[in-house]
Amino acid sequence: MEQQTEVKKKVMLSGIQPSGDLHLGNYLGAVKNWAELAEEFDCYYFMADLHSITVRQTPADLRRRSVSQLAQYIACGLDPAKNTLFIQSHVHEHAELGWILNCYTMFGELSRMTQFKDKSAKNAENINGGLFTYPALMAADILLYQADYVPVGEDQKQHCELTRDVAIRFNNLYGETFKVPDPYIPKVGARIMSLSVPGSKMSKSDPQGCVFIMDSPEEISRKFKRAVTDSDTENCVHFDPVNKPGVSNLMNIYAAVTGLSFEAIEHDFAGKGYGAFKPAVGDAVIEALRPIREESTRMISDKEYLREVYTDGAQRATAVARKTLRKVYKRVGFVEKPF
Ligand code: TYM
Repeated sequence: MEQQTEVKKKVMLSGIQPSGDLHLGNYLGAVKNWAELAEEFDCYYFMADLHSITVRQTPADLRRRSVSQLAQYIACGLDPAKNTLFIQSHVHEHAELGWILNCYTMFGELSRMTQFKDKSAKNAENINGGLFTYPALMAADILLYQADYVPVGEDQKQHCELTRDVAIRFNNLYGETFKVPDPYIPKVGARIMSLSVPGSKMSKSDPQGCVFIMDSPEEISRKFKRAVTDSDTENCVHFDPVNKPGVSNLMNIYAAVTGLSFEAIEHDFAGKGYGAFKPAVGDAVIEALRPIREESTRMISDKEYLREVYTDGAQRATAVARKTLRKVYKRVGFVEKPF
């Protein structure tokens, strides 16, 4: 008789805050890479709505974006049959483990987080406790699923490292409880910069320098034509992030959407200058995003289908999260719930 051995797949998990529409940084740094992982890994992706309220949101917009982000995930190639897609607040274990891990995360560690420093500078009137302890909730998101890898852009590396430290600390105190995860950062596209201020990362807070997945082709084209480059009189398309941050960012985007190497791009645009390069990058991005925009637009109106997907996702996620949380409750000394 043939021996059947089921090999357990490694776990991938990631999330995006539905605090704005998905942009090219989220796509190239994160979602684009997720779609390719479904066969090899057991994948969990969620809308991080609990994280979003660390910054004030308009409730109706948050609700709408949490669902439209799901449509965008699917349009980016995440098949709900092969990936567990859910809304974070539907799985209450996140908030529960988040609280517990708060008690194992140090004030000094949280104070060093650059995202906290950036966001508190931008939201000086609302530096709330959640903004500060946010990384403990992110650690809970990851550790609940015993994730092996966390596919994120460069800016989330620090939070992933803190997650590792918290997991190791907990395991040392109570015995092996959590898998210690590794960040999984793409070689190209991990840090997309603003088109208008190439020294800052692309983010929704700077709409002129930010290309949204749902932008029309005309808008995308306009944003790339206006992209800030440099004053090199030769207009040389050359990869040099220190001296040519604008052009290097455009090359990074072009490489990420076309799969071309930097050498090939330099070769193709030798002597052609920025005047030819900027619209070429815009056109490549328009073509890469077109099917995603069209599919998202179609799917957003299918509320029933999206509801089915996030219901099924939350059920599957809960089954896994519950197991880990039960183990943690026991480890820290909580009395077993009698019902
Ligand atoms: P968020 O919502 O800011 O961003 C979502 C993903 O997009 C990546 N990203 C970028 N990549 C390249 N260039 C950019 N300009 C750029 N901007 C954003 C981010 O690195 C991220 O992968 N804390 C997380 C959300 C989160 C999470 C988690 C992630 C909550 N829980 C658990 C992983 C695992 C955040 O604020 O990402």
